[in-house]
Amino acid sequence: MGITVADHWAQGDVYQRILEALEAAGKDLTALTVEDLAPVDHVHARGFAATVELGDALPPVAPDSHLLDVGCGLGGPARYFGQHFGCRVSGIDLTGPFVEAGQRLTGLLGLDDRVDLRVGDAQELPYEDETFDGAYAQHVTMNVPDRPAFFASAFRVLRPGGFLALTEHGRGSSRELHHPVPWSEDGSGEYLVTPEQTRELLQEAGFVDIAVTDTGQDYLAAYRAMLSLADRGALPPLGLHVLIGPSTTAKARNSVRNIEEGATRPNRVVCHKQG
Ligand SMILES: C[S@@+](CC[C@H](N)C(=O)[O-])C[C@H]1O[C@@H](n2cnc3c(N)ncnc32)[C@H](O)[C@@H]1O
Repeated sequence: MGITVADHWAQGDVYQRILEALEAAGKDLTALTVEDLAPVDHVHARGFAATVELGDALPPVAPDSHLLDVGCGLGGPARYFGQHFGCRVSGIDLTGPFVEAGQRLTGLLGLDDRVDLRVGDAQELPYEDETFDGAYAQHVTMNVPDRPAFFASAFRVLRPGGFLALTEHGRGSSRELHHPVPWSEDGSGEYLVTPEQTRELLQEAGFVDIAVTDTGQDYLAAYRAMLSLADRGALPPLGLHVLIGPSTTAKARNSVRNIEEGATRPNRVVCHKQG
């Protein structure tokens, strides 16, 4: 049996590793900003740029909104949206070391009043019905075995009129994926479905106005840019390699091949719970 999804993503003292990388990058830890942390706390191939784009693709978010970040990782996107929209964001993630580090980073940035993070599972969201004005899961579903349970849970905790946004690698052709990839070393813990299946499953959960956007070219460009830096030995001290380690480049190379060969289809989805 492969390792658990949580152990795949992080083990040990993640906060300490991030602090050391921040120091190596010459950041002043007493005056840290959301942007300073961005190269490392958006745990996602396209990093901060993808989070900013996701924010631009969301329906309007008012300052009195409460958002849910499903699979929040270190909480970088939650802190960015909390600051950008001036709203409250609750994050939940399976991986304890990410949540623990994320809570400390939130404290370091003085955003505790706006952002809270906890350990939990997307398939059984531990919140009251109709709590949130919007929810998003940025590059999480690749590890979620029971999509109907996740979508039903998200639907339940959203207020009528609330939105759900996903970014994910969908399954493409029936071709086998090259591994390792960022979300799995060898295919264990990996549950990809096609964008068409995602749309159907969202409809079955009750979501409406489902808009799916192909983001494959953006991902190819980002992986290639990272590989070009790595090939020149020019990766900056602060980056996802701090979390993912020496397999970062192999995972990026395989991700490029998977997209080029049509085995994966990165996409973004925005839909609503009817108002
Ligand atoms: C690629 S990281 C993305 C983190 C974050 N969304 C971001 O953009 O920075 C994927 C995250 O999904 C989390 N995850 C995977 N399956 C999950 C589940 N069933 N419930 C909650 N979190 C999950 C992992 O622990 C990991 O932190």
